[in-house]
Amino acid sequence: RPRLLSGMQPSADSLHLGNYLGALVNWVRLQDEYETFFFIPDLHAITVDYDPKDLAQRTRVTCAQYIAGGIDIERTALFVQSHVPEHAELAWVLNCVTGFGEASRMTQFKDKTQKSGTDAATVGLFAYPVLMAADILLYRPYGVPVGEDQRQHLELARNLAQRFNHRFGETFVVPEAVIPKEGAKIYDLQHPTAKMSKSAESPAGLINILDNPKQAAKKIKSAVTDDGTEIRFDREAKPGISNLLTIYSTLSGKSIAQLEQEYQGKMYGHLKVDLAEVVVETLAPVQARAQELLDDPAELDRLLARGAQKARSIASATLADVYSKVGFLPAG
Ligand code: TYM
Repeated sequence: RPRLLSGMQPSADSLHLGNYLGALVNWVRLQDEYETFFFIPDLHAITVDYDPKDLAQRTRVTCAQYIAGGIDIERTALFVQSHVPEHAELAWVLNCVTGFGEASRMTQFKDKTQKSGTDAATVGLFAYPVLMAADILLYRPYGVPVGEDQRQHLELARNLAQRFNHRFGETFVVPEAVIPKEGAKIYDLQHPTAKMSKSAESPAGLINILDNPKQAAKKIKSAVTDDGTEIRFDREAKPGISNLLTIYSTLSGKSIAQLEQEYQGKMYGHLKVDLAEVVVETLAPVQARAQELLDDPAELDRLLARGAQKARSIASATLADVYSKVGFLPAG
């Protein structure tokens, strides 16, 4: 079976609805057809300001949400990035084939440093996409299922793979971006032209998977909508309603066209009430299952250790190949 790999940062106390719909829901589905590797990129989480005393728990909570959302540890290697040292080791080698200008063109770095300036940013944040390329290339996957915002990073991983292969000989598989048709970009509920993100301006724009369901329902009901009354998908003219339709469609499995038909002649409020219910029905069981898993952290840690073992068996072989290709003296 072709291989897939992806990860989500443990940088908040909960994943948000964008992570869930843009990534996790797909990962779960893809487990049927692919050999899957999903991991928690904790090395990435320390590239920005954070509190070390939260990180380990956030890593567990993220892992619990993966499993509660449907990741099956019998079929998927589920692991923590820092448990597999080959990620950092390969990243160094890839740093040395990445152009400084090339890294400087990453739009996410530019966005993140726009307000504070690059002096306040770390070299780690700058090199972040190279580490992400290492995460991917170590496993020689066919593809990487991500949301739209990761497309440019994936393009860098492809370029680095090609460049390395060209310079040192065939080593890496050039990975495909696997981006869903719907749900690849969920927008902020209060600012439906900005992507939903943990750094949302107002908490009302962001639904966290571990939000109290009542609160989540309230956020849907108070989502910004658009002029007019018609419930119709139109990203330009109706960004608010379009976002709600996308969320509804990805959660319920109904197509947007089907929803437009169902809500013909109805008011925005009807759509919101129904969607709020769908959101609550989705979150409640995920939260209950995540809590069960978190009640037994030792078991979670054991299962992550198993995942890391499986990941290392592949990562170490790739890294040995890379070290030999770049000409390092073998350790005696
Ligand atoms: P991260 O942790 O920011 O996001 C995790 C996944 O969620 C998707 N996503 C969204 N999808 C739809 N709408 C949104 N509003 C939204 N916000 C986030 C992201 O596209 C992503 O798929 N650099 C990565 C983590 C990473 C990684 C990797 C991913 C590190 N190494 C290797 C794949 C392969 C990141 O920060 O994603």
